[in-house]
Amino acid sequence: MTRISTGITDLDKKLQGGFPEGECILITGEPGTGKTIIGIQFLYNACKEGKRCALIATEETPEKIIIHGKALGFDLEPFVNTNQLSMVRFLEIRAFDIGEGTNQKYIEIDDINNLLHMMQEDIDVIVLDNMGTFSIGVDLKEFRDKVDALAYLLSKQNRTSLIMMDATAHELTHRITEYSTYGTIKLTTKENPYTGKMERYMYMPKMRGTKVTLELINYDITEEGIKLLSSKSNK
Ligand SMILES: Nc1ncnc2c1ncn2[C@@H]1O[C@H](COP(=O)(O)OP(=O)(O)OP(=O)(O)O)[C@@H](O)[C@H]1O
Ligand SMILES: [Mg+2]
Repeated sequence: MTRISTGITDLDKKLQGGFPEGECILITGEPGTGKTIIGIQFLYNACKEGKRCALIATEETPEKIIIHGKALGFDLEPFVNTNQLSMVRFLEIRAFDIGEGTNQKYIEIDDINNLLHMMQEDIDVIVLDNMGTFSIGVDLKEFRDKVDALAYLLSKQNRTSLIMMDATAHELTHRITEYSTYGTIKLTTKENPYTGKMERYMYMPKMRGTKVTLELINYDITEEGIKLLSSKSNK
């Protein structure tokens, strides 16, 4: 299987080289656990490797994402300027919809599917941040069908994609998105019983075609982005 780097060297080592190319991976986690930063690091690395990328941002403006990336040493701006990285401004569309009143049609997963059909064929990598936006108040079966369709389309188009989903929406939809995607990484925080301090952990319950550890992987968000911490289980 061909792999594409996650943008985090130590995480690549735990995934037999990286994310499976052309497949759709779910990243879920509570607020502030680093979902968007994982997306930024992945996109930055993919851009550096010459891949054509797109970020569909439903919760932050591209400008903010660029600022956050720069602060961590992942400057996406040059890639945006050369159109190697397309930023799809879904937050603004959502904000406009909501601001305009109730008669407006809110954006839905169907709109993402339509967008994918229209997207230039040479886009290799897509990050969708955050799928949770489209799930609340939607019939569960309809949501499952639409996520299946989205994951199928992305994979058929041979695009490696990361779908971010906030933990609340993920729980409210009974975690069904996990069945539709090729792999799942969960980000969480938990108290270290020895120190009493909160620590960050990632857990990979599923990555088809890949031997992964089921142990919790201790990580930190540093000024240089996400770093796996060395512990016995991280080696
Ligand atoms: N420059 C930085 N240096 C150190 N830590 C940072 C830096 N920038 C962000 N962080 C940490 O990363 C966290 C935010 O990460 P990120 O935005 O990726 O989370 P998220 O999971 O996407 O959150 P949300 O669900 O709200 O979108 C911040 O709360 C902060 O702890
Ligand atoms: Mg985020």
